[in-house]
Amino acid sequence: MPVILGIDTSCDDTGVGIVRDGVVLANVVSSQTDLHAKYGGVVPEQASREHLSVIDHVVSEALTRGGVTLDDIDVVAATYGPGLVGALLVGLTYAKALAWSRGLTFVGIHHLEGHIASCLATGELEPPFLSLIASGGHTSLFEVEAPGRYLELGKTRDDAAGEAFDKVARLLGLGFPGGPPLSNLAKRGNEQAYPFKLPLRGQAGYDFSFSGLKTAVAVLLQKEPQASKADVAASFERTVTESLIEVALRAANATGHQDLVVAGGVAANSRLRRRFSQVGLRVHFPPFELTTDNGAMIALAAERRLPAASDWEIDAEPYLPLAESEPSSTT
Ligand code: KG4
Ligand code: ZN
Repeated sequence: MPVILGIDTSCDDTGVGIVRDGVVLANVVSSQTDLHAKYGGVVPEQASREHLSVIDHVVSEALTRGGVTLDDIDVVAATYGPGLVGALLVGLTYAKALAWSRGLTFVGIHHLEGHIASCLATGELEPPFLSLIASGGHTSLFEVEAPGRYLELGKTRDDAAGEAFDKVARLLGLGFPGGPPLSNLAKRGNEQAYPFKLPLRGQAGYDFSFSGLKTAVAVLLQKEPQASKADVAASFERTVTESLIEVALRAANATGHQDLVVAGGVAANSRLRRRFSQVGLRVHFPPFELTTDNGAMIALAAERRLPAASDWEIDAEPYLPLAESEPSSTT
């Protein structure tokens, strides 16, 4: 079984993972959270520089934790899009150079294919199924028709779900990224305290929208500065969760799929996990440690693409759609 080293540098985490036969041998993530926290968001140029300064070390650490050396690696995979172009280029160029210099196979992976693969490690689920990806940069619903074949049913018209968490957390005076502190605060709140309107209620289709909800929170906090922050957080979290569920269920009813993969950073949210597990579908989440960006998910996705010929021409593509990410040459 080939040993695969996967790299993700699409945003602000330098992730390197090592995988063999669906098993994650190592998963090391160097987070830049502290670096960007003071700006309340990711500063692209700083992200690229930080990836560059730590990537060698993160690869060494992953090899050590995985109990392997570079001589054991057969395939090197990296995210080539979507993401911040400078950040993507660091991981992609590193991966290509490593593979080329050692005569290894190089595989380019779409970031969202990595998130989906993070739920498939056990090998119990094969396409077709539905996949909802809710992260800081994306909120989309896909029908995964066959391995590597994706049909985008809908996506957010404005903010991604994670982005809404980050912005509302900021309004509540919490840190960045906002998902984890907001969901911690929400645990103490009453989710029925503020009945925010469900976004796009009554509309057909599979799109999402979260910026109106964020504005509703801002208006509420202006009108009621004394509002319980925990209640606001819980009510916001409930509304995001119910909106995601409503659209996913509509798609499941229309397509007949019973299996739903829920991936991306927002899938770390415990209220969301609890509620999705009550909706009557077979819902598959990634293991908690593979939920936010990491390199192991990229290695897992690459493993599903093998055997593959190296595509050295692949370039960083900041806006790469998943439906067009099929490799041009496989053997
Ligand atoms: O998948 P990810 O690591 O990066 C992107 O590809 O965007 O997702 C990061 C996003 C951030 O917006 C963060 O606030 C959100 O995931 N997030 C959460 C939780 N943990 C991370 N949102 C809600 N609840 C959480 N527990
Ligand atoms: Zn991601």
